Amino acid sequence: MADVQKRDGFATKFGVIAAAAGSAIGLGNIWKFPYITGENGGAAFILVYLGCIALIGVPVMLSEFVIGRRGQKDAAGSFRRLAPGTPWFLTGWMGIAAAFMILAFYGVVAGWTLHYTFMAIGGNFESMDPAAVGNYFGSFISTDFLPIFWQGIFMTLTAGIVLAGVKNGIEKYSKILMPLLLGLLVILAIRSMTLPGAGAGIDFLLKPDFSKLTGKAVLDALGHAFFSLSLGMGTMITYGSYINKKENLGTTAIQVTLADTGIALLAGLAIFPAVFAFNVTPSAGPGLVFVTLPSVFNQMFGGPIFATMFFALLAVAALTSSISILEVVVAYFSEEKGMDRKKATIIVTILITVIGMLASLSMGRTSDIMFPFFSSGEWIRVGFFDLLDKFSANFLLPIGGLFISLFVGWKMKAADVRDEVSNGGTLRAMFFWVFIWAARIIAPVGIIIVFLYNLGIIQP
Ligand code: TRP
Repeated sequence: MADVQKRDGFATKFGVIAAAAGSAIGLGNIWKFPYITGENGGAAFILVYLGCIALIGVPVMLSEFVIGRRGQKDAAGSFRRLAPGTPWFLTGWMGIAAAFMILAFYGVVAGWTLHYTFMAIGGNFESMDPAAVGNYFGSFISTDFLPIFWQGIFMTLTAGIVLAGVKNGIEKYSKILMPLLLGLLVILAIRSMTLPGAGAGIDFLLKPDFSKLTGKAVLDALGHAFFSLSLGMGTMITYGSYINKKENLGTTAIQVTLADTGIALLAGLAIFPAVFAFNVTPSAGPGLVFVTLPSVFNQMFGGPIFATMFFALLAVAALTSSISILEVVVAYFSEEKGMDRKKATIIVTILITVIGMLASLSMGRTSDIMFPFFSSGEWIRVGFFDLLDKFSANFLLPIGGLFISLFVGWKMKAADVRDEVSNGGTLRAMFFWVFIWAARIIAPVGIIIVFLYNLGIIQP
């Protein structure tokens, strides 16, 4: 039953990459990356994001793999086993809190993709012009019942998969479905870039204007690097614990990162040319993908079919990510707290779904309830949906990543780390010293600099 207890692990190299990439590639790449790129002015933001991925994301991902494969337990348990009697396991706790917040709003957005799939099947977007598509989204997310209904369906699917222990079955399908999503994104990007007026969108993506870079932009870039790569929360520690002792952790981390980043950039190429062609505001926020893409499909031969496939595949991509989030929490309550796995899954899913419902309502009925939030050196007010998103991605995940890299860089013995990344000395692991210093200095200092910059304490 509990694959976590059996620790059976991945059979093949491709299985490891498919699972880790399945977790990483999701709404983060196709929904969140474009909209925060739009909010933060385009190309310059993307460059900072790529810098965060390379200098901080890769070392933290490899660190998570090392902790998991050496610890052979869930996130908190691996810390406990590698550093008994120390408070390092608290990093695992923080991850649990982050998982609750992330899955709560993730389920809401995934519900939107399910609703859009059914809208597309019925050909409902065909008769809408770009303005009508935008209005439709606005009124849909602000209704009470419909978004919550689809969120509930999505959360039930997520829990069902985790309960049935058919995660591996899902990965089998996602090996076919994810390349399909990739192919569709390529087609979409081509169609989008050939729309009249698309040039402004391509410029937006490729011509950096560094005067637009704010402290908020830099923190958004860092937070999104963690969010998109599924880092800072224990997901990759848990997956690391399943990786076969013969696999090369370093190349796995790099391949997963390249796949994830490639999909995000492709999503940008599919969306921004269309944003400009259809006069959508690039900073339109979380609805960007939903108000732009239906109009692109309307300009395509066989539009409703492509639209249906796209939103359905996006829902599948979201599902392979959401199960990896729920797993972290369920593994914690069953392995550390001795709770029955089935009971843990049901209770946790209900709690997260209720939090998510409140997030969904905060886009409509309760939109005037605001929370104080500290950003770019000042207090701002944000709704509940944004609060969950910003607090988890921009604070909890980077702080988790900070402790994870410090743990591998300074707390673990360098010889042990080398043993793990070189598979007991059988790989040359020539990058070892680069990695160890990235974990010791580059990643932690990078994270701290971004925080100081955001707080307005340092200027560029
Ligand atoms: N990376 C996923 C996405 O981009 C979301 C996700 C899955 C995640 N597991 C995570 C985010 C762990 C943070 C931490 O859609």
